[in-house]
Amino acid sequence: MTDTNLPVLLVVEDDEGLQRQLKWAYEGYRVVAAGDRQSAIEALRLYEPAVVTLDLGLPPDPDGTDEGFATLSEILRLKPDTKVIVASGHGARESALRAISLGAYDFYRKPLDIDELGLIVARAFHLHGIEAENRRHEAGGSTVLGSIISAAPEMQKVARTIERVANADVSVMLLGASGTGKELLARAVHDQSKRKNGEFVAINCAAIPENLLEAELFGYERGAFTGAVKTNPGKIEQAQGGTLFLDEVGDIPLPLQVKLLRFLQERVIERIGGRQPIAVDTRIVCATHQNLDAMTADGRFREDLYYRLAEIVVKIPALAERAGDAVLLARHFVNRFARELNSKVTGLSTDAVAAIDSHSWPGNVRELENRIKRAVIMADGKQLTADDLDLQGRAPQGEDAINLRAVRETADRRAIRQAMSRTENNISGAAKLLGISRPTLYDLLKQYQLTS
Ligand SMILES: Nc1ncnc2c1ncn2[C@@H]1O[C@H](COP(=O)(O)OP(=O)(O)OP(=O)(O)O)[C@@H](O)[C@H]1O
Ligand SMILES: [Mg+2]
Repeated sequence: MTDTNLPVLLVVEDDEGLQRQLKWAYEGYRVVAAGDRQSAIEALRLYEPAVVTLDLGLPPDPDGTDEGFATLSEILRLKPDTKVIVASGHGARESALRAISLGAYDFYRKPLDIDELGLIVARAFHLHGIEAENRRHEAGGSTVLGSIISAAPEMQKVARTIERVANADVSVMLLGASGTGKELLARAVHDQSKRKNGEFVAINCAAIPENLLEAELFGYERGAFTGAVKTNPGKIEQAQGGTLFLDEVGDIPLPLQVKLLRFLQERVIERIGGRQPIAVDTRIVCATHQNLDAMTADGRFREDLYYRLAEIVVKIPALAERAGDAVLLARHFVNRFARELNSKVTGLSTDAVAAIDSHSWPGNVRELENRIKRAVIMADGKQLTADDLDLQGRAPQGEDAINLRAVRETADRRAIRQAMSRTENNISGAAKLLGISRPTLYDLLKQYQLTS
């Protein structure tokens, strides 16, 4: 096995004998040695080690501490979160205090005791891990547009588009499978726009019976129909000065599409039973999980309406296409539900993380949110397991077995999913992209239970 997967421990030490000794001493790390300040800084940039041991007596000042302190300062300036463990034989107490005050993590006195240093190093890695984790969780660390959690470049792109168009007052159509965050992004469009102090009014066109949808959207006058006991402004009017979110816009019946188109062209509405046109200034954001191209092609959706609604089209990637986001979101939901539900759950087990990362999430973020919520309610332990999440974690044998296999499998799954989506599920095309034969791809699809 190569050691490239091990965490790097950078040893800055000019004594080659000691360098060698340290290389052999620590099996759990990949020990990279540097003999002077310049090579230490090069290694720091190249490997970004979490932990560095630093001998203060470096050339050209091997008997003093100046070069060592200069190196310490430079390391911390470049990578302030690095845990630097400083070593010196000269004037130990003074040097220790000075090093700590400069930001070193710990200090030990030469001559070297492998076991003692080993403990300090292990603790430093552990702490660095916890701190890195916390930084990832901090609000803002992996959020875009304020409230949307993502670290994936695919979503960063979506966020940049939304930022750019938010103020332009153009109509925005959000296309994405169910649970991808369409409503959240619609709100983001509103919040980023100059209409943010106006109302954000959402209406789900699929959830309202056809015969009531018109009244919901356009409102009605008293006496317009039986049961209209008082005048009621519709959703469009409520969104005056703000944003109107038409969710599942593909479900608007054709007759109402005509009426909506007229509003978009003239920016006036008439309530049902009303005689006064009412001017409404609102921005339209709409969303659908349906294929509107196909619907316009066979006449179920008006093409002219489509172009009015879709001045800007934003495609929201499925959760499985946002590398790393499932685990990121899972941790966020664990924290949130543990807090809201007063539960003792604090995190995810290794097998849960692997299972979350490799699951295909057909229900996207909504499915993830629901699974985590249920698991937080039902779990016995402090850490949610793949079992708690009802995800098939394969029974791992020992730590290494989990990691290596999980890592490989995750990479396989991701590559396959990407190839399949890029080729629109064309097996030959995907196999070619992946550099494998069609039968092999079939086997892998079956093995990983990925449907084509
Ligand atoms: N990137 C994200 N960060 C945090 N929460 C998210 C993210 N994406 C979605 N959610 C949450 O997931 C749930 C589903 O999101 P939303 O309702 O916006 O999706 P949708 O595409 O409108 O789904 P549906 O098709 O089911 O209506 C919501 O509770 C939302 O707050
Ligand atoms: Mg929705």
